[in-house]
Amino acid sequence: MAHDYILQMHGVTKRFPGVTALEKVDLELRSGEVLALMGENGAGKSTLMKILGGAQPPDEGTLRIDGNPVEFRHVSDSRRHGIVLVHQELMMATNLDVAGNIFLGSETCRWGMLQRRAMHTASESLLRRVGLACSPATLVGSLTPGQMQMVEIAKALSHKARILILDEPTSSLTLTESEQLFKIIGDLRRQGIAIIYISHRMEEVQRLADRVIVLRDGKRVGELQREQITQQKIVSMMVGRELTNWYPPLRPAAQYPAILEVDNLIVPGAPCPVSFVAGAGEILGFAGLVGAGRTELMQAIFGVTPPIGGVVTLNGKHFRPRSPRDAINRGIYLAPEDRKHHGLVLPMSIAQNISMPDVCNYKPFGWLHRRQEATVAKKQLNALRIKAPGVKYRVGSLSGGNQQKVVLGKWLAMQPKILILDEPTRGVDVGAKAEIYREMMELAQQGVTILMVSSEMEEILGMSDRIVVMRERRLEGILPRQQATQENIAALMTGAGKT
Ligand SMILES: Nc1ncnc2c1ncn2[C@@H]1O[C@H](COP(=O)(O)OP(=O)(O)OP(=O)(O)O)[C@@H](O)[C@H]1O
Ligand SMILES: [Mg+2]
Repeated sequence: MAHDYILQMHGVTKRFPGVTALEKVDLELRSGEVLALMGENGAGKSTLMKILGGAQPPDEGTLRIDGNPVEFRHVSDSRRHGIVLVHQELMMATNLDVAGNIFLGSETCRWGMLQRRAMHTASESLLRRVGLACSPATLVGSLTPGQMQMVEIAKALSHKARILILDEPTSSLTLTESEQLFKIIGDLRRQGIAIIYISHRMEEVQRLADRVIVLRDGKRVGELQREQITQQKIVSMMVGRELTNWYPPLRPAAQYPAILEVDNLIVPGAPCPVSFVAGAGEILGFAGLVGAGRTELMQAIFGVTPPIGGVVTLNGKHFRPRSPRDAINRGIYLAPEDRKHHGLVLPMSIAQNISMPDVCNYKPFGWLHRRQEATVAKKQLNALRIKAPGVKYRVGSLSGGNQQKVVLGKWLAMQPKILILDEPTRGVDVGAKAEIYREMMELAQQGVTILMVSSEMEEILGMSDRIVVMRERRLEGILPRQQATQENIAALMTGAGKT
C-alpha cells in the first residue's frame, strides 16, 4: 500500500547543460529496508540522492514523506524530515578536529566554547560506535581517507536519521572499516531506519540489499527483490546487454624478457629490502591486505618517497629513483590510488586533463597541438566509455567514476615502459572495468610492463601473469598464475600458511 512507504519520489527529472541526468525516475522506500541503487558511472545515482538530500532541486517530479508531499529547497529541509546524506566526495573541514567536524553545522555549535566538553563526550561515543580509535581532538587533516569517511558516518549517526543515504561509502575504507560499517548498517536497519546504499561492489550489494533499483542513462530500468538478486542480473540491467566475460582471455604462460629489476630496495619504514624482477609485457599483480606496504613500494619505485637503499635496473641501466620526474624521464609512470586528489584539474576540460603534459613539468609529447590533444582524448573517451557530451566538457561536471576514468585515461595514453596502477578500477562500474582491463592487456601486448596493485582478488587472478604477495611491508612470495589460487594467495596475505 502506498502509505507503507516512508519515501516516494515520483517522476524526478534533472537536466544539466548538454546532459539529462535523470528522466522521470520513481523511487520508493520502506522503513527498515536497505535499498541498493546501482548503475554505471554517470547513470544519475548521486544526482538523485542530492535531490533527496535537498542539495539540488529537481526540474520536475514530486517527493512524498509518509505519503505527504514535501519540497526540499535546502539541505536543512531534508534534514528536518530525518534524511541524511553521506556524500560520495568527502566534504570535511580538514583544519578542524574530529568533534568540530561531527558537529559542524548542527545546533550544538551554538553551544559555544563552554560546550566543548559535551561535544567531545558525544563525539567519543559516536567514534566508538563506528570503531574509530582516535581522540575527538584529532585534526581531521591528519586522518587517512578511510578514517575521514568513518567520521562522516559518525556525523550522519549524530543526526538520528530516518533515512540514511550512503553514496559509495566503502570506496576508501579498509576491510576492517567496511565490516564495521556493515555492522552499523545492520543495527540501523533493525531500528527501522531506511538505508539507500550506492556501491559498485557486487559482493556488498548481494550481502546487504533487501532490494535493488537500477538506473541506466538517467532512467530507472529495473528492480530486483532480495531473492532475485544476482550479479549477472544486476550487470545486464546496468549495461543493457549481457556482459559475461569482463576479463580478457588469459594469455598463455610465457617467459617475458626481464626489463625491470628491483634489487634490495629499502622503502622508508619497511622492515626489510624488497627484490623482484618484471618482464617486458608482463602484468605483475600485487596482492596484500590494505597496509601491506604495496602503495609505499610503488611510491618508492616512482620516486615519490625515494628509497633509502638498493637499486632499480631498467633496460640494463641502474639507478635509484630520486623523484617522480626522474622516474618519468625513464619511462616509469604511476597512476595513484587516490586519483581524485592527484592530477585532476576540475575546471579544465577532459581533453586538457587527459593530455595535460605537466606531470612534474615533464612534457612527453612536447608542444601539443589542440587537434592532437582532442584526438588523444577522444580515443580515451570512447575506449573507457567516459559519459560526457564531448572532450571539451568540464571534468568537474562529470560523475565520480567518470572523473576517475579521465585520470586513468591520461596515464594509459602516455606510452610508458613501466606502468604502475594502484587500484585501477576503484569506483569504476563493471562495464568500464572491462574496458580498462582490455586496454591494460593491449599495452602489455605492446611490451609495456604493468605493476598492478589491487585489493580485489578477482582482478588479481583475472589479470596477472604473476602475483606478488605482500604482508606487513614484506614481500611474502611470488606465485606464477598457474599456481595461484584464492586460497594460497590469502594464506600468504594473512601469514596463515606459516607455523
Ligand atoms: N553539477 C553538474 N553539472 C553538470 N553535469 C552534472 C552535474 N552533476 C552531475 N552531472 C552529470 O549528470 C550525470 C549523472 O551524474 P551522477 O553524478 O549522478 O552519476 P553517478 O550515477 O553518481 O555516477 P558514479 O558512479 O560515477 O558516481 C553525469 O552525466 C554527470 O556528468
Ligand atoms: Mg556518484
